[in-house]
Amino acid sequence: MEVIVRANPPQASVLGADYVEQLLTKKPKAVLGLATGRTPVRLYQELSRRPHLDFRQITTFNLDEYVGLPPEHPSSYHCFMQQNFFRPLEIQPHQWNIPDGQAADLEQECQEYEERIQASGGIDLQILGIGHDGHIGFNEPTSSLRSRTRVKTLTASTVEANRSEFPSGQEPPLHVLTMGVGTILEARQILLMAFGESKSEIVAKMIEGPLTAMVPASALQLHPKVTVILDEPAASRLTMLEYYRQVYDHKNER
Ligand code: F6R
Repeated sequence: MEVIVRANPPQASVLGADYVEQLLTKKPKAVLGLATGRTPVRLYQELSRRPHLDFRQITTFNLDEYVGLPPEHPSSYHCFMQQNFFRPLEIQPHQWNIPDGQAADLEQECQEYEERIQASGGIDLQILGIGHDGHIGFNEPTSSLRSRTRVKTLTASTVEANRSEFPSGQEPPLHVLTMGVGTILEARQILLMAFGESKSEIVAKMIEGPLTAMVPASALQLHPKVTVILDEPAASRLTMLEYYRQVYDHKNER
């Protein structure tokens, strides 16, 4: 796992965008796995500030969507993606994929989502955030580390964390469709970002703790090409921090 620490989220996001740019330069038809939430917003903004980048041939797959929310609901991940990625980068409807949380048959939708990922040739770069409980996508603690896209029930703490995304008085959904841990691990490259002191404990568990379904993000230890970009507060509980800095500072000498 490559661990890189930057002073603050803006600097970390510029570096994250550099990873996306490197991929698009090599592979204009890249398949990107995308996350919602607060963490990747600056990275998406940074991409829209790079007019030399050409997104016309990319395909995207989002990690997750709430069950039961129509795409036009302001708190849906469809809506989030329109606002923060598809509209600013002029991504056309035929280019993007988000699980349909309103599908009549949710199991079939999940199966077809997996098939669409396969048919696209697989995800080249998966962008991830991490929940305070260690979830990636919405794979909550005790998720199978080989799970595929499916319906998941959110924990009470994730429902609480999601509440701020909903109008007051509206209860956030308890169920989501999410790519599985096994689906995520099949991406060729993974870029996870985490910011703020509140993420420091779970970040340390993900990188330096035991591989366990209680911290689904720890499954990334099994992946050969993961980059984790942190701000200083999120990195503050890493015991090997100096080593990670040394590895990165000397990366180009190899
Ligand atoms: C979002 C997702 C989640 C978030 C995580 C962190 O599509 O799959 O795993 O990445 O909950 O959310 P933020 O970035 O808001 O802290």
